[in-house]
This record gives sequence, C-alpha cells and structure tokens, in this order.
Amino acid sequence: MGGQAQDRPAVIGGGVMGSAITAMALGHGVPVTLVEIDGEAVELAKRRVAQQLRHARLMGAFPDVPEGELTATTGLAAARDATAVVEAIVEDDKVKAAVLGELSALVAPGTPLITNTSGIPVDELAEAVERPADLLATHFMNPAYLIPNVEVVRGPRTGQSTLDAVLGLLERLSRKPIVVRDSPGFVTSRLLHPMINDAARVVEAGTASVEAVDELMQGCLGHPTGPLRTADLIGLDNLADALRALAERTGDPRHAPCALLRSKVADGHLGRKSGRGFYEYGKVF
Ligand code: NAI
Repeated sequence: MGGQAQDRPAVIGGGVMGSAITAMALGHGVPVTLVEIDGEAVELAKRRVAQQLRHARLMGAFPDVPEGELTATTGLAAARDATAVVEAIVEDDKVKAAVLGELSALVAPGTPLITNTSGIPVDELAEAVERPADLLATHFMNPAYLIPNVEVVRGPRTGQSTLDAVLGLLERLSRKPIVVRDSPGFVTSRLLHPMINDAARVVEAGTASVEAVDELMQGCLGHPTGPLRTADLIGLDNLADALRALAERTGDPRHAPCALLRSKVADGHLGRKSGRGFYEYGKVF
C-alpha cells in the first residue's frame, strides 16, 4: 500500500511525533514537507527522521514502495500547497492556536488541518482558525509507524469532508483510525496519563522501585512496557504538559503532574529523547 499520487502533506514540528509521522508517510511513498523553527532544528529533525526510517524498516513497518521525498525547511509558508497539514508542536494551547491560525490563513480552504495533540480539545483550537470545519485532531501513539491504531477526534464543528479526507489518508498510511468525540484528554490520555502519574506517585512514596512498578504492570496486568517506560518514550515534559492541560480542563487537581515528574523535567531528565528519565539510555533517540 502507498499514498495516492496527490498526497503531499506538511508536518509542522519534527520532534518525537513529527519525525515519526514524517517517517511513516515517507515509508508509504508519500512526499512530506517538514517545517521546524530554525536551521539547527531542521538538521536535528532530519537526523530523527532518518533514524526512525531505519528503525521502521528494521521492524518491517513499510510496504514495498519507493520512499517519498523529504523537504525539511523553516517557515510555515512552505506548507502553503500541502494537501493536508499535521501540526505536531508543543502541547501548549496558546502556541498551537497561534500556529494553526497562521496555517489556516495560508492553505487553500478545505485543506485538512490536523492537530496532533495528547488531549487539547479540538473545539478550543477551532477558535483560532479561519474555517473550524477544516480542523480535527489525531492522537498518534509513539512510535507512530509501529502502532496501527490512531485516535481521531472530531470536534463539534469538524466537517464531514475533513473527517473523510483524514480517514482516507490514514488508511493509505496503513493506520486504523478510531473516531471519538471531543473531550479533554480524549480517550487514551484520559486513561493512560493519570495512570502514569499514579505510577510515579507510587515510586515517590517509596512503595516500589521504578522497575518493580513496570514489572508488576507488565507481568501481572499485561501492560506492554510498564507505565514508567511508556512515560520515558512519550517524553516527561510532554507528559507533564498534557497532565496540566487535563487538570485545568477537568478541574481535578489529582491530574496535575506529581512532584517526581516535575523534578525530573526541571532536571532535564525527559526520557528517551534526552538519554535519561525514569531509566538511563545508552543513546539519545
Ligand atoms: P517535541 O517537543 O518532541 O517536538 C516538538 C517540536 O516542535 C520541536 O522540535 C520544536 O522545535 C517544534 N516546534 C515548536 N514550535 C514550532 C513552530 N512554530 N514551527 C515549527 N516547529 C515548531 O514534542 P512531541 O513529543 O513530538 O509532541 C508533539 C505533539 O504531539 C504534542 O502536542 C504532544 O502532546 C503530541 N503527542 C505526543 C506524543 C508522544 O508520545 N510524545 C504522543 C501523542 C501525541
């Protein structure tokens, strides 16, 4: 399976998720324009994409089609002619709203604007765009090219043609979209993030070690990696931001990131992407 000849998505942000989404599209023969904030970030994003392509190929994640061409650059204007735009920048509603607003003024009406967020409601972000019908959210899991299921969030103002176009694109990328309604944290972050926060609280309280928590959750409850290893894969800064967003919107203070999580972020121990989080990693991924 490969993309349609006319697929030319742009991805804004080449961090953990943007680089994985880009690699997934390239591996399906889809050309991608990847936009980062400056030249240094562009180079870093290109290295991340190359690393993810290698990993994905090793895992047999792609069909046998020629790789799509990558254009990595700065400036949102590069997304002007995209057939769909995936925004994958930081989990901050104001920053996302500003970038989505700019993008909606730039692209042709009817171009799907996809915000990849862990849980900021689509309808809040829709306030910032010119055509709320063009906006919806995806919540890819990490690594996007290995996990087939994708949470797709239809806001109350998302148009049917936008939803159909995005579902079509995801299917061409071998994904299995699951559509849910708009709500803080949607389904997956609403369930997963509080569990990770509590797993960190268990460690904080001295009840069990990081390894013991993960071994119990893996061996007894069938969790694939354990919640704290998952936290390292997500990125602890992103996790803390998503928990804060969930706490603000649900009004439940227990969803605020616990002290252990906050101190790790303050110390720069962000998980796999920085080489250290709850665990130590040999190399930065
Ligand atoms: P990240 O911090 O790894 O990457 C964000 C990237 O966006 C950075 O490279 C940054 O330079 C770039 N960026 C920031 N502002 C920009 C702008 N104006 N134009 C272009 N690039 C810009 O973040 P990550 O983890 O990739 O998360 C991205 C989004 O995906 C967040 O909203 C997050 O909640 C969501 N998400 C993250 C998951 C994860 O496992 N890390 C899973 C699912 C969703």
